[in-house]
Amino acid sequence: MEFIIASDYDGMSRKAADVVESVMKDAPECVLGLATGSTPIGMYGCLVEDTAKGDVSFANVSTFNLDEYCGLTGDHDQSYRYFMDQNLFDSVDVDKAKTHVPNGCAADVDQMCEEYEQAIEDAGGIDIQVLGIGHNGHIGFNEPCDHFPVITHEVDLTESTINANSRLFDDISEVPRKAVTMGIGTIMKARKVVVLANGEGKADIISRAFTGPVVPEVPASVLQLHPDVTVVLDAEAASKLDIA
Ligand code: PGA
Repeated sequence: MEFIIASDYDGMSRKAADVVESVMKDAPECVLGLATGSTPIGMYGCLVEDTAKGDVSFANVSTFNLDEYCGLTGDHDQSYRYFMDQNLFDSVDVDKAKTHVPNGCAADVDQMCEEYEQAIEDAGGIDIQVLGIGHNGHIGFNEPCDHFPVITHEVDLTESTINANSRLFDDISEVPRKAVTMGIGTIMKARKVVVLANGEGKADIISRAFTGPVVPEVPASVLQLHPDVTVVLDAEAASKLDIA
């Protein structure tokens, strides 16, 4: 596990974009696993700028997002499809047909989840998975529980996640109670993982996830078992990390 510690959010975003771009330059037809949330917005900004400059191209890239709320269509401004369009897809040369976000409105959710797993496999598997981390250690919407869920599946969101995400909705009652997420197994199959975190509020969970025991109560701790993880932090998020 490699740690890259930047002084601030912009530095974290730049370093994380460099990690992703190095995979894209080595393999222009690569498969990216992507994440939503506040954390990666700056990284997506760097990717948009670098694409405009011609340093990197999404023309032959496929993407798979980690998760999506249940019940929100792609044109809802809090859906993760909408987030990706706004923050990345509409501003780079990606073929939208090659961008995938789980369908949170599928009539048969289990079937959709199976098809999502199959589509990742058919694309050749994920070359690099971008992850944020929740204050409770969740990755994707894999919330703390007593086991590591393996494949893409429907989840009940915890009160902690609903509260954290309510800042983006007019009212907490509008926050969906369910979501669809890649499983821990799906994430662990990615050939490379890059985790981003910034701010003091993430310092405790970063320390627990990466220097504490590997337990499903801290889902991100499983990444200690992955052979190729880069954790990109700002100084605040790294402030409780004892990696000397
Ligand atoms: P955040 O969310 O980037 O908005 O902090 C991270 C997450 O919950 O995975």
